[in-house]
Amino acid sequence: MNPDQRAPRLDLRAVSKTFGGTRVLHDVSLDIAPGEVHALVGQNGSGKSTLIKILAGFHEADPGASALVDGRPRSLGDPDDIHDAGVRFVHQDLGLVPALSVVDNLALGHGYARGMGGRINWRRQTAAAEAALRAIGYEVDVRALVEDLQPVERTAVAIARALQSAQGEMSVLVLDEPTATMPKAEVQRLFEIINTVRQQGVGILYVSHHLEEVFELADRVTVLVDGHRVATKRCSELDQRGLVDLMTGGVVDEARQRSTTVPGEPLLALRGVRGAEIVELDLQVLAGEVVGVAGITGSGREELCSLIFGAKPREGRVTVRGRELPALRPHTACALGMALVPANRLRDGIVSGLNVRENANLTTVRRLARHVRIRPRDDRRQAASISTKMSVKAPSLESPIESLSGGNQQKVVLGKWLQTDPHVLLLDEPTQGVDIKAKAEIHHLIDDVASKGVAVLVCSSDEAELERLCDRVLVLRHGRVVSEFNGAEVQTRRLVHTSLGLTS
Ligand SMILES: Nc1ncnc2c1ncn2[C@@H]1O[C@H](COP(=O)(O)OP(=O)(O)OP(=O)(O)O)[C@@H](O)[C@H]1O
Ligand SMILES: [Mg+2]
Repeated sequence: MNPDQRAPRLDLRAVSKTFGGTRVLHDVSLDIAPGEVHALVGQNGSGKSTLIKILAGFHEADPGASALVDGRPRSLGDPDDIHDAGVRFVHQDLGLVPALSVVDNLALGHGYARGMGGRINWRRQTAAAEAALRAIGYEVDVRALVEDLQPVERTAVAIARALQSAQGEMSVLVLDEPTATMPKAEVQRLFEIINTVRQQGVGILYVSHHLEEVFELADRVTVLVDGHRVATKRCSELDQRGLVDLMTGGVVDEARQRSTTVPGEPLLALRGVRGAEIVELDLQVLAGEVVGVAGITGSGREELCSLIFGAKPREGRVTVRGRELPALRPHTACALGMALVPANRLRDGIVSGLNVRENANLTTVRRLARHVRIRPRDDRRQAASISTKMSVKAPSLESPIESLSGGNQQKVVLGKWLQTDPHVLLLDEPTQGVDIKAKAEIHHLIDDVASKGVAVLVCSSDEAELERLCDRVLVLRHGRVVSEFNGAEVQTRRLVHTSLGLTS
């Protein structure tokens, strides 16, 4: 129970939720003491975001649920009442309006600064937005549209928006996977902010698939399995292994299955590549090799895959299997056997409005359409095979893609590209938002793909993932390679240090 004698800042009781006949939350209760960081963990689809969306008033709970904030009953399902109670959110899909600027998005939560006659004072508004982002360590062009920002910058905007409340106004801060695209250095900065907020007595609900973050930050942790709360424990009573066992009921096999590379021919080669952030880059990836790229936000890591694939303008030469790939020609890239799994799942990865089957089959529509019309049986069979191979958890292949949990959407995106049998596979944050068990499965799939002679380039903010996957890792700083690590030299600590420009 609540270790603190004061009234919990948040006391959620008996929350259940049924979507179209399927119960995804079963009688879940959870409380957060003042100044406590309470972690909420569970595999993809276990119900974490649904619980949070119910608290936010985005979904209605099944009858019987209740919420108290600072001892006072609040009406679940009423976003205004929860906001008035001082509960603030950084949602997994961030809840920003992509077509509006950063300034506008920040104002949505808070209102615009007004001058004489009630007119919006844009200069003050812009300065305030810049200051809010600088306070959490990000320099962002606040006039830019949110849809044009990098994933981590978008997270920063959502965090800045949640933090805008004056001191004393915020009772609970809810963060749903805020670090999914953050390198470790930035995670540390976020933790400093969270610790400042907690010292003000705010209760914090923190969702993450990175269990080391849970142990570093949280006082207690609640574990969901298939919508059931299976445990709430003090973090000091547990170790990582114990927590994994609670979440998965078993051991996760993280061991690498691929032997070290037998170098093949170079399938991907870059010479003098330049982009918005990348100043100069030469790089080769051989058949069967997995090459990683590390770097903090702004290092060039985030744009590299899109530059190569042709989704963003670039200069310099890119060749695929010896054939030149002109800039801005994604179709040619596909034709040459290149596939890209983009980092920005919501914008580039999934097509909302289509169901799981349609999303899974998007990349091979042509191959399926052998008989002019797509045969529904082939279509279903292929989608089913992707879904099984990737262990996608979805009510059915006909479910709308938006109804899948974040991690399961990511598996569909990855699966649809893997089935194109590429020669060169570009992976940008391949396991963002994916739970540890699915992550291990995806890592095995990447091992497999490389063993078959595919050249794989992985850009990731998760340095431990690079250590697990890569034969070789390049570290970018200020748009250039500052270090290269090979084989056993590829170690998380080294990657983090070099990314930060520290000499260890
Ligand atoms: N709008 C919806 N309609 C139907 N089913 C839904 C909807 N939203 C979520 N679900 C289902 O509810 C279950 C819980 O999903 P939820 O998004 O809460 O998982 P999660 O624990 O946040 O997972 P992740 O770690 O992948 O983000 C999933 O099976 C999901 O498919
Ligand atoms: Mg979620």
